[in-house]
Amino acid sequence: MTESDQFHSYVPAEGHGLKHDPFNAIVGPRPIGWISTLSPDGAPNLAPYSFFNAFNYTPPIIGFSSTGWKDTVANIEKTGEFVWNLVTRTLAERMNITSAVVPPDVSEFALGHIRSTPSDIVRPTRVADSPVQFECRLTQMVQLKDADGRALETWMTFGEVVKAHIRADLVASGVYDTVAARPVLRAGGPADYYEIRTDSLFQMRRPQGDELTKLLDGHHVTD
Ligand SMILES: Cc1cc2nc3c(=O)[nH]c(=O)nc-3n(C[C@H](O)[C@H](O)[C@H](O)COP(=O)(O)O)c2cc1C
Repeated sequence: MTESDQFHSYVPAEGHGLKHDPFNAIVGPRPIGWISTLSPDGAPNLAPYSFFNAFNYTPPIIGFSSTGWKDTVANIEKTGEFVWNLVTRTLAERMNITSAVVPPDVSEFALGHIRSTPSDIVRPTRVADSPVQFECRLTQMVQLKDADGRALETWMTFGEVVKAHIRADLVASGVYDTVAARPVLRAGGPADYYEIRTDSLFQMRRPQGDELTKLLDGHHVTD
């Protein structure tokens, strides 16, 4: 690790040298993949994964990473199906309960007093009180490797959204209202979360047309 006035620099393999690992706090806040699955014999499972994001528009593909071979990945590997549920502020505490380590035959739906509702296409159920749910079919499951090619005990699961459900009041004039859903994001530290608020919104459009021409006109350095 090297210290300077300007940067705290470190080699992760040798330790970050701080009180808390900053990695999660830097790559964040992150959306949460609240993933519902069924075991091969039909036992429901629900768990949150914040190493989660969207990766493709058409078809829509989402993915999450499991550190360790957990019930969620084991179920998806066997059944090929899962449901993603949006975590909102009102559901945050119940989402947290579903992260508890419990035997595979204990349903986190029951543990967290979470109502479920059937899906249309896949077998795992949806969180009834979540305002957005994606029914997904497994596309790829990838075991991650480190830079030396050594296999890690971490699995990325990707799924295609084959059916999306959005609560009607969150769509106004054909536009989905992100803030109205009150989504919860995972931040760094053992307990930090953020909510999204209207006053944190700002807008930018990608450079194109006249704006791009002006940018290119003023661009004399070729580097
Ligand atoms: C907000 C939140 C985010 C989490 N993100 C992850 C994650 O990205 N990867 C992971 O392996 N575990 C993550 N966990 C822990 C899992 O939810 C926990 O290990 C859970 O018991 C897994 O359940 P399962 O065995 O039923 O799949 C997270 C927990 C919380 C509360």
